Amino acid sequence: MGKINFFPDNLEIKNKKIILRLDLNVPIKNKKILDDTRITLCLPFINRLIEKKAKIIIISHLGRPKGIEVPELSLLPIFKHLKNSLKTNVYFFKGVLNEETKEKFSYLKEGEVMLIENIRYFKGEIEDDEGFSRKLGELGDIFINDAFSCSHRKQASVHNITKFIKKSYAGPLLKKEISAIKLVIENKKEPVTCIIGGSKISTKINVITSLVEKVNSLIIVGAMANNFFVYKNFKVGKSLIEKNTKEIIDGIYKKAKENNCEILIPEDCMVGKNFEGLGKNKNLGEIKDNEIILDIGEKTIKNINKKIDQSNTVLWNGPAGYFENENFSKGTLSIAENISKNTIGNSLISVIGGGDTLASINKSKSELSFSHLSTAGGAFLEYLEGKDLPGISVLK
Ligand code: 3PG
Repeated sequence: MGKINFFPDNLEIKNKKIILRLDLNVPIKNKKILDDTRITLCLPFINRLIEKKAKIIIISHLGRPKGIEVPELSLLPIFKHLKNSLKTNVYFFKGVLNEETKEKFSYLKEGEVMLIENIRYFKGEIEDDEGFSRKLGELGDIFINDAFSCSHRKQASVHNITKFIKKSYAGPLLKKEISAIKLVIENKKEPVTCIIGGSKISTKINVITSLVEKVNSLIIVGAMANNFFVYKNFKVGKSLIEKNTKEIIDGIYKKAKENNCEILIPEDCMVGKNFEGLGKNKNLGEIKDNEIILDIGEKTIKNINKKIDQSNTVLWNGPAGYFENENFSKGTLSIAENISKNTIGNSLISVIGGGDTLASINKSKSELSFSHLSTAGGAFLEYLEGKDLPGISVLK
């Protein structure tokens, strides 16, 4: 396996057009950015490129529009944020990529920034299409991927673009992410506990199956746990569930048994009649048809925290509940605060990952501390799994 080409800080880039792939996929509601951590983290490097008088073309996605324009997923609020944060001219490009666009981009002056509208509005991006990748690549002289969190996607702006541009590098945030995760993996101490939340079991199935071979305990929280409740014949009311997961869960339990990995699922939950209201603590078996599971319950919080206290390494991805409503954020925040307490006091090795996880723990009133806080969700899990990510292998 080759070495990753990291962007050399002493590279002469004055007047060069740099295509910078960032992950500016931040939570936005009614055109307002709810958490700007991902943007803030990108600013120092953009400023560095501005200082070095490069012409910077930024690419990012927001959400998952499948090659069509979804107005709520426009990067416009992010453009406004960048315009306010960067001391240079920042432009916004919306439209098709063709010869005319290329010419427009050539008017960019040294130290100026152009943000391209949501790259997932283009089908070619999702399909990693060579023609589209060529169009993207031809816009610049150098490509820098500083979006570790997108590098598990085989999509044009992280993958095939590298075929159509002279030089491709990994940026400093990507470098920091992989060095930190590597360090933790190499130094991890048993017992290792992994907490997985979020909603879709089918997108995390491979990771979960591979993690049960590597960790001592696996804790399932969030909407993902609902599928385990259904598997165990508990009613989940109107809660979010995925179809046909029986076989998947069967496989997970089988593999866990073979590898002596304990699987913990919640024993009680906070339920509500809708996403906006108040919650009620209920045991499994008591959930009514008109109720939705929106957080883990008190007993479960205690059990999880006990497990964290007994662990020497904790890996966590995905909130435990619908943290956007503070009535359902207690589970997530209690987990975060206890991992932080153990990291500071008991030298627990802790790696926390994912955009939602980041946004949720930013709601804590306490100052939290972890061994590594990753902006990546899926990419973080796949990297932990030991996979060669498509967006990283092309930088080698
Ligand atoms: C993330 O939020 O994990 C990244 O932005 C990647 O998003 P995706 O899962 O939609 O590719």
